[in-house]
Amino acid sequence: MIFYFSATGNSKHVAELLSAAIGDSRPTDMRTLSGSGRHIEINENESIGFVFPVHSWGMPKTLPEVIAGIKFKGYNPEKSYCYMVCSCGDDCGLTFRQWSKAAERAGLKASAGYSVFMPNTYVLLPGFDTDDSSLTEKKLNAAPKRIEEIAAMIRCRAIGDHTYHGRFSRMKSGLIYPVFIKTITDKPFHADNDKCVKCGKCRTACPTGNITTENGLPKWNGHCINCLACYHYCPAKCIDFGKMTRRKGQYHFK
Ligand SMILES: Cc1cc2nc3c(=O)[nH]c(=O)nc-3n(C[C@H](O)[C@H](O)[C@H](O)COP(=O)(O)O)c2cc1C
Repeated sequence: MIFYFSATGNSKHVAELLSAAIGDSRPTDMRTLSGSGRHIEINENESIGFVFPVHSWGMPKTLPEVIAGIKFKGYNPEKSYCYMVCSCGDDCGLTFRQWSKAAERAGLKASAGYSVFMPNTYVLLPGFDTDDSSLTEKKLNAAPKRIEEIAAMIRCRAIGDHTYHGRFSRMKSGLIYPVFIKTITDKPFHADNDKCVKCGKCRTACPTGNITTENGLPKWNGHCINCLACYHYCPAKCIDFGKMTRRKGQYHFK
């Protein structure tokens, strides 16, 4: 059983390749879990996987609560295998540790963590941009092999943290991540009304349902997680975050 969260399609792609590689059923989008849908019945020796993107060397805002809120009926910590796979542009910091705690809050025993490099989507700070086309292609070409490796480790129920931490992981996850989460805002988001083609893709792409449209134009409603799906999926590139994204690239998995 694989659950995924994805803003711009990378993690969804990873989840789909992984489920095919380990012969699992179709992965479940965690966005569809609400109310009684959070009560999941599993076989006691079934494996449970979570696939999601890294946001500021940790988990996307609200995802720990979503995971902690799932109730697994029939789960047996001695027989089941619970793992995470995160997709990241560069490095994950201590995301595995954070996920392990969320899994524990859901009553799960965290067994292993893995990471896959995918094209970068973070563009909200100076010096951060999408990857150029050759790096994008390189990452997309390398991902299936990495996912095969992960699938092989999952099949033999490997234990431990196999994610790529990168440098200064404690500082990034311990100090920068909490600041990132606290300062998340959608106030700077705006659409250029002259360029907007009123397609509504920003609204449908938003994983938190934070965008409504008025006369076809987007409005952000204050419960954003800064995943940037609205920005990256806009076919007119008319959405910006203040001035920060004006000259930045766009990317979503196709
Ligand atoms: C807000 C935000 C923060 C990010 N932080 C990191 C990070 O700390 N490390 C990293 O390697 N990639 C980071 N990324 C890049 C994404 O993790 C990466 O592109 C991921 O594959 C996107 O997955 P998705 O398409 O499923 O949303 C960040 C992206 C966003 C939008």
